[in-house]
Amino acid sequence: MKSYKITLIKGDGIGPEIIDEAVKVLDAVASCCEIDFSYDEALMGGSAYDITGDPLPQETIIKSLNSDAVLFGAIGGQKWDTLPREKRPESGLLRFRKELGVYANLRPAVVYDELINASSLKPEIIKGVDIMVVRELIGGIYFGEPKGRTEDKGWNTMVYTRMEIERIAHRAFKAAQQRDKRVCSIDKANVLDVSQLWRDVVTEIAAQYPDVALTHMYVDNAAMQLVLNPRQFDVMLTGNIFGDILSDEASMLCGSIGLLPSASIGDKIGVYEPIHGSAPDIAGQGIANPIATISSASMMLRYALGEIEAADKIDAAIKKALREGYRTQDLALFDAKEVCSTSEMGSLIANYIVR
Ligand code: IPM
Ligand code: MG
Repeated sequence: MKSYKITLIKGDGIGPEIIDEAVKVLDAVASCCEIDFSYDEALMGGSAYDITGDPLPQETIIKSLNSDAVLFGAIGGQKWDTLPREKRPESGLLRFRKELGVYANLRPAVVYDELINASSLKPEIIKGVDIMVVRELIGGIYFGEPKGRTEDKGWNTMVYTRMEIERIAHRAFKAAQQRDKRVCSIDKANVLDVSQLWRDVVTEIAAQYPDVALTHMYVDNAAMQLVLNPRQFDVMLTGNIFGDILSDEASMLCGSIGLLPSASIGDKIGVYEPIHGSAPDIAGQGIANPIATISSASMMLRYALGEIEAADKIDAAIKKALREGYRTQDLALFDAKEVCSTSEMGSLIANYIVR
């Protein structure tokens, strides 16, 4: 029996509810695939600030680095929006990503046939969409210096070094080799010097992957193309802020942001988290969609632990729940046979996991 240590960071808002469902599903897959999980909870975000005065206690970093993978819910909420920047939940998350060195954020956007009517786009446009956004996560304008704020002026700087671009480009080309072998690199090279460097370096790295076709696209055009003809994309390689925006956009191809998982990886430990936020407006009501987090747990099994069979079982169970017509509130209007709560959805998926 293989055992793994998982750090659970529930965070704020709906974070605790959705992590609980993912754990339910992990436990189901554990008993059926002879895996043993031990969980250790750690604090991050506003709830960490409330208890310790710090949105990222040192203990959270230590626990995470000593585990096999981190499963993370979400952070943030209005309650903490007026704190000084470094005390805000988001600063905790950014520091966490930086400390763990998770520079590559993989965000798959796959349209489930079962939810073909749930997208705001027409079925014939989105049928078969299968995109992997590869977002650089610990550089760019989120982290660049100088940055600052006075009463009348605020500034941030978008910086990328050759090394940062090279390593994320390698990730994107390697991901493409496992897929349809196409990378579209997104930048704003017509205006930004940092983007011209991005484009030059990505083009250089592409020479090492002759089996992968590389194209470049300006980010404004990419935002348009994503809703005009999303099937043209296989891997979308982007910097930090462009990837943040485009992955939210891509989620709507799929019907709900409550469906999309992500994997944040580097050279150490990986962090697996839904792409959505903490949704404080619906927290505690039992209506959040746990699928993005359950699906993130599946990515964790696949990428961090190499438990492919277990991951496949979770993915199949999610599909089955959707095929049978079970929907959480966010998808209630789309071919729902039955609308269920957060925990009912978790239990259904867990029960569909069979040997
Ligand atoms: C995401 C989120 C975060 C980001 C926030 C919460 C800091 O939007 O993971 O996409 O901007 O990276
Ligand atoms: Mg985001």
